[in-house]
Amino acid sequence: MGVEVDAHDARLRRVVAPGSVVANPRTSCDHGAVDDTTKKKITRSQRPDSDAFKRFITEKWGGHEREPVARAAGAPFAAERRARISGQFPGVRIIAPAGDLAMRSNDTTYRFRPHSDFAYLTGLGVDHEPGAVLVMEPTASGHSAILYLLPPESRDGEGFYSDPRLGEFWIGKRPGLAEFSAIAGIETRPLAELPRGLRLASQPSPAVARALAMMRMVKDAYEVDQVRAAVAATIAGFERVVGEFPRAIEHKRGERVIEATFDGHAREEGNAVGYETIAASGPHATTLHWISNDGQVRDGDLLLLDAGVEVESLYTADITRTLPVGGTFSDVQRRVYDVVLEAADAAFAVAGPGSTLREIHLAAMGVIERRLTEWGIVPTNDDPDAALYRRWMVHSTSHHLGLDVHDCDKARRTAYLDGKLEPGMVFTIEPGLYFKEDDLAVPEELRGIGIRIEDDVLVTTDGVENLSRALPRGADDVERWMAALRR
Ligand code: GLY
Ligand code: MN
Ligand code: MN
Repeated sequence: MGVEVDAHDARLRRVVAPGSVVANPRTSCDHGAVDDTTKKKITRSQRPDSDAFKRFITEKWGGHEREPVARAAGAPFAAERRARISGQFPGVRIIAPAGDLAMRSNDTTYRFRPHSDFAYLTGLGVDHEPGAVLVMEPTASGHSAILYLLPPESRDGEGFYSDPRLGEFWIGKRPGLAEFSAIAGIETRPLAELPRGLRLASQPSPAVARALAMMRMVKDAYEVDQVRAAVAATIAGFERVVGEFPRAIEHKRGERVIEATFDGHAREEGNAVGYETIAASGPHATTLHWISNDGQVRDGDLLLLDAGVEVESLYTADITRTLPVGGTFSDVQRRVYDVVLEAADAAFAVAGPGSTLREIHLAAMGVIERRLTEWGIVPTNDDPDAALYRRWMVHSTSHHLGLDVHDCDKARRTAYLDGKLEPGMVFTIEPGLYFKEDDLAVPEELRGIGIRIEDDVLVTTDGVENLSRALPRGADDVERWMAALRR
């Protein structure tokens, strides 16, 4: 199936100022655009051009009515967030674009996901809405929000069947301006009315982006509910994966069986995965972001699964379990596993309101350093900052979690690492140990073992809640859980 006509092309020329250069063609509005030099449209198009055809295809359609829409559950919370960011930037225009369709190749685009700040300030999730721009204009009393959108093509015109971006024939029914206004509770206007000066420079200023990242560190009640939903869906996905272990062992690329099982589950139960699934069996588990997932899954291996369902509001979980494929840990696997678990428990023990991510990390690293030193694999060094044990755990222990898996990355480093944790913050605890297959600094029995245990944690008024606690963590509990799922 290909794109034949480009009613959108004319609109594109209206939206982008004449003579302007689109800085990043991957995010430009050129879906279906025709290259006048190559005349590609003429080469490919085979649709009849007769007046009779054009008349016939636009008439005799029933059901023109638009579906009634409900206010999004997140909309009141988004309004509250807009009020808060408004208070921080009096007299300053605030712009939050959703971003646009990204080209995969030629006229084929990736599935759209809006920018997280846009979702945060509008309450819109799933694939709403390519090209949209939220503008908060300063007023005497704060800001007034306007959502600029590309309206769907009317059923009466050619674009209905010829516009691959906005025509119902191609993309199905989409909400129009009135519907989006009802869903988000924000005034809407056609994108063509976006003031000319904002068309290409419509990125949030660094100051606004930072302020939003700081705000997003503390989740409101709606956000906490959404993360809980994402965690629950993710735990169900892990259970499905364990059920597929026998098939994964049989398959030449068993890691793909794992990935496909989890990713399919994420599409069935949520919007998508919140990041590329890491399904790493055996020594692949020592590669921190192993997403090729093209290896075999062997009985006797450990399978490190780091995966998260992103729910339709776009909040994601981020959970890792390291599972013995055959159902039981070997002695050496269990020895390493228990150290990682002890590190995670040490991190949990210091986590709570008033603690910092740096302290949590140091608590986990204290265990790792102590145990690896006891094992005699950490060379002695006079420099107290050498931290040679970090050869086997090079990543950090925690990151914020929410609309993005690595949430709030634009926050000030001091606030992120050394800011005191507050109720409503959500972050991960995820220590690991990774002994590569060719690591000559460790005994042979350790080589090829990679283990991470990752939980999603909510700060409460008097401590923390492990949101992912329903997924077993201890080695014995993991074995029992797997045995029960295999029955
Ligand atoms: N899944 C990536 C991470 O754990 O940070
Ligand atoms: Mn993580
Ligand atoms: Mn993870």
